[in-house]
Amino acid sequence: MKICVLYGTETGNAEMLAEDIQSALEDDHDVTCRNLADTDPAALDGETFHVVVCSTYGDGDLPASAQPFADRLEDGAHDLSGVRFAIFGLGDAEYDETFTQGSEKLAAKFKARGATQIGARLTHDASGDDLPEDIALPWITDILANMSVEQEEG
Ligand SMILES: Cc1cc2nc3c(=O)[nH]c(=O)nc-3n(C[C@H](O)[C@H](O)[C@H](O)COP(=O)(O)O)c2cc1C
Repeated sequence: MKICVLYGTETGNAEMLAEDIQSALEDDHDVTCRNLADTDPAALDGETFHVVVCSTYGDGDLPASAQPFADRLEDGAHDLSGVRFAIFGLGDAEYDETFTQGSEKLAAKFKARGATQIGARLTHDASGDDLPEDIALPWITDILANMSVEQEEG
């Protein structure tokens, strides 16, 4: 499968996790990894499965590297129907009400343009004991396994 791991980050955690996801999947799939800052929404296509990793900054806002992408998504008349994505959020539960809202907002923007979310959005809490990859790697492995079962059945 063609997979593009897209990350939105401020201080690099989402980038490191995106690279871990790329490394974990590239034996079995054709995987690229890129910063949302360098991504044009018009380049997202229906043949590629997009795995988005995005942190939260400010007061539940998108991190700096995701903001220009989100702005382009709002400004342009982009049609993301046919685009499939899964999304993983990084945050810190100390922020309570705004916990991982950056990824939540980004998922809403993808869906508002017609993209289809695959699987549930999972999150990592920087003040918890887990490493992000310990949550994200089983999460994406499960999603891909379900997708291949559905493909066989369909
Ligand atoms: C100034 C600042 C503001 C933050 N605001 C939030 C927030 O509103 N909600 C949240 O869940 N996490 C918040 N975080 C936590 C980050 O999302 C978390 O540390 C994440 O792992 C950072 O990933 P990154 O390095 O990819 O940007 C904030 C962190 C900082 C330093």
